[in-house]
Amino acid sequence: MQDFSYIPQNKHKDFNMKGSIEFFSVDEIQRALNFHKSFPSFKETDLVVLNDRSKELGLSNIYVKDESTRFGINSFKGLGASWAMGNYIAEKLNIPIEELPYERMVSDEIRKKLGKVTFASCTDGNHGRGVAWVGQMLQQEVKIFMPKGSGSDRVKNIEALGAEVTVTDLNYDDTIRYVMDEADKNGWVIVQDTSWDGYVDIPKWIMQGYAALVLEAYQQIERDNLPKPTHVFLQAGVGAMAGGACGLITNLLKEDMPKTIIVEPNEAAAFYKSAQANDGERHFVTGSMPTIMAGLACGEPGIIAWDVIAEFADGYIRCPDWISANGMRLSAVPVGNDKSFVSGESAGVSYGLTNELMINEDLKEIKNQIGLDENSIVLCISTEGDTDVKAYQDIVWYGKINKF
Ligand SMILES: Cc1ncc(COP(=O)(O)O)c(C=O)c1O
Repeated sequence: MQDFSYIPQNKHKDFNMKGSIEFFSVDEIQRALNFHKSFPSFKETDLVVLNDRSKELGLSNIYVKDESTRFGINSFKGLGASWAMGNYIAEKLNIPIEELPYERMVSDEIRKKLGKVTFASCTDGNHGRGVAWVGQMLQQEVKIFMPKGSGSDRVKNIEALGAEVTVTDLNYDDTIRYVMDEADKNGWVIVQDTSWDGYVDIPKWIMQGYAALVLEAYQQIERDNLPKPTHVFLQAGVGAMAGGACGLITNLLKEDMPKTIIVEPNEAAAFYKSAQANDGERHFVTGSMPTIMAGLACGEPGIIAWDVIAEFADGYIRCPDWISANGMRLSAVPVGNDKSFVSGESAGVSYGLTNELMINEDLKEIKNQIGLDENSIVLCISTEGDTDVKAYQDIVWYGKINKF
């Protein structure tokens, strides 16, 4: 397999289109952000402005939204789980979520009305930690099911938030089916970021919750009087984050939207594969997906995510693991006065790719197709910190996974 490949998507964008894109209107995402802000541990995450490295690379600038500090759980995932679980409770009680900020949500009045809810999810890490954190915050029961082989650190991090964790002897897809059966039998509420027949509300809310981080980034850009990005790189697993972000950016900027590029590891490039087939349908990657980018190792694009991305993204790129490893190292050890930040295996890929596109002569054609030059400002989302500490140290300290 070629190490890098890019497919442009030169489609006419219909900004009046109805459908999934409407879930990501600026008003909807602002509602999610307002809810997030009601949590006591809410704090804006940094928008890191890499003035010095971008100068060296011949770009106008690079902004990285550093989600490692979000809600103290080392990744962006609490944004989706909180908005989804909050909306579930609001609907169940028939109270508008605007009237249920965090403080009221955990009040005796509301807890009495609601009774006991058990939330369940299948996860291989960050998402489960997000769901467990929200369960702990909202004082509700959470059961997390993890596929066989799930790392013990990840299990411990979720258990530390009070959730009951079961590591099954099944793979990810079979574990989801198992959770669906158990939820059915026991009346649990499933919190999953992919939709299926009859299960769309929670995945949609999760995507809206993720999109809030991009709205926050644009609000920081405006507040700090920074020029707007010309390019946004969005890494995708099932595409809940990328789809939500792309939807929000489309609604926010319409004709002026930046070039939005979907980034995936070679081993799990399902959006890329779907674009390559060019029939408007989703195409899946099957079998094992041996990539360090664990959060991106998903073979099936989400339905809502694909709906949005297939209409409004500008291209799809797949790349090798060492790109993300480089992104992690570049983030940890910056140049000049640029700020250092912790970027994990699924987080470093977009910055690593931006860097490589600018320095690697072999990638010149892709760079030109994407249109990266001295006028470009690239926005990347660093979606996690060192969620697997040992893997992070092996890569950043000891140089595991590199270009040479
Ligand atoms: C750190 C990190 N980044 C990115 C993603 C990709 O998100 P999505 O599956 O919504 O595409 C994940 C998903 O688990 C993740 O954990």
